[in-house]
Amino acid sequence: MCRPTYFDVTYEINPWMNASKPVDTDLAIEQWEGLRRLYLRYGHAVDLIEPVEGLPDMVFSANGATVLDDRVLVARFRHAERAAEGTAHREWFASRGYRDIRTATYVNEAEGDYMVVGRTVLAGTGFRTDARAHAELRDALGCEVVTLNLTDPRFYHLDTALAVLSDSEVMYYPGAFSAESLATLRELYPDAVIAEEADAEVFGLNAVSDGLHVFLPDTATGLAAQLRRRGFEPVGVDLSELLKAGGSVKCCTLEIRHQAQA
Ligand code: ARG
Repeated sequence: MCRPTYFDVTYEINPWMNASKPVDTDLAIEQWEGLRRLYLRYGHAVDLIEPVEGLPDMVFSANGATVLDDRVLVARFRHAERAAEGTAHREWFASRGYRDIRTATYVNEAEGDYMVVGRTVLAGTGFRTDARAHAELRDALGCEVVTLNLTDPRFYHLDTALAVLSDSEVMYYPGAFSAESLATLRELYPDAVIAEEADAEVFGLNAVSDGLHVFLPDTATGLAAQLRRRGFEPVGVDLSELLKAGGSVKCCTLEIRHQAQA
């Protein structure tokens, strides 16, 4: 995670951002601390990357890199305003001793568009990540990759439209996908939790699950009820200030997956 020390909305690269609307950075920090404390309370270790002045979106660390079995594929951002975040993440992983670190050739915004479900990565494209990046991801991380096309600009990253609940379960908002990708999702996950538009609009799908607890925006009440019926334990989080930049729980969380010890 990355503390939102320099968080602000100074440019507009998604429909949620309004550079003329004031941002309360202190409140953003307080809310972000709340998420971090929740992770710790539920037993999840949290590493921190140092925020960089002049990179107001760096709090959205999910966009920095994709990690699988200690292999790291560093992002290449669509917009110049965020480009330096890739370098910062590369340095972070190098300083932590990761040896297999690659920087992508094609534009990809890492876990913003790459959702790891077991050994498969669901890979979004349409707004940020270049479709050509998907083959690069497969080669770099040695995983199976399923391409999904996003069509609604409000849901510009896959992690705003779909969340991973376990190694075999997902939840998603159908309205964010092309007809073909929707057919793919239905075939792969016939029992998926289907989100209503009202829950998707408050970023209810921008969630992190440990297989039991699902951390999601507290305003996504319909989704929380659906999850409870499925046996999950929703944990509501208030990140309203970060929503002004078009991000929430999952965006703030880069998940580091280590190879299981033999
Ligand atoms: N303002 C940021 C952008 O538009 C928000 C990124 C949200 N991150 C995410 N994983 N969806 O790039």
